[in-house]
Amino acid sequence: MAADQQPDAIALLKADHRKVEKLFEEFESASGKSRKEELAKQICTELTVHTIIEEEIFYPACKGKTEEDLLAESYVEHDGAKVLIAEIEAGGPDDEFYDAKVKVLSEEIAHHVEEEEKRVEGMFAQARSAGLDMDALGAQMAAEKDRLMAAYTSSGLPKPEAPTLHGTGLA
Ligand SMILES: [Fe+2]
Ligand SMILES: [Fe+2]
Repeated sequence: MAADQQPDAIALLKADHRKVEKLFEEFESASGKSRKEELAKQICTELTVHTIIEEEIFYPACKGKTEEDLLAESYVEHDGAKVLIAEIEAGGPDDEFYDAKVKVLSEEIAHHVEEEEKRVEGMFAQARSAGLDMDALGAQMAAEKDRLMAAYTSSGLPKPEAPTLHGTGLA
């Protein structure tokens, strides 16, 4: 890959996964409250942007090309994560369940990332085999990521939309 080229879709999404894993590890070993809060907010922002670019760009491109059940589960897993992300965003390190929420979110995300990255039967592998245009999708997602990051850095995270969850009043 030439230095002036964008990473392809899968490289971009995997780089996001690695970044968030590192932030979760840092959170786990952080001791100061303000550092924890800073890391948690960073995790929430990264995951919010990541889920949006997947839901707006990557997952729709996978529709009809990857296993339907796996794709449906991915949307539900995203929406489950959004509930915890909203809780963490609204709370702070003095809350009784703050650390537990970050920990459970990290476990949910680890499972989800495995489903996306698993060799052969994972979503990314299926999408790659189906011949999706990973360069075009990567460029689109990189542009959308920059736009969302800039927007959220200046005005905070939006209220999450969790279209797969109904009737619980939680989402
Ligand atoms: Fe992902
Ligand atoms: Fe995902």
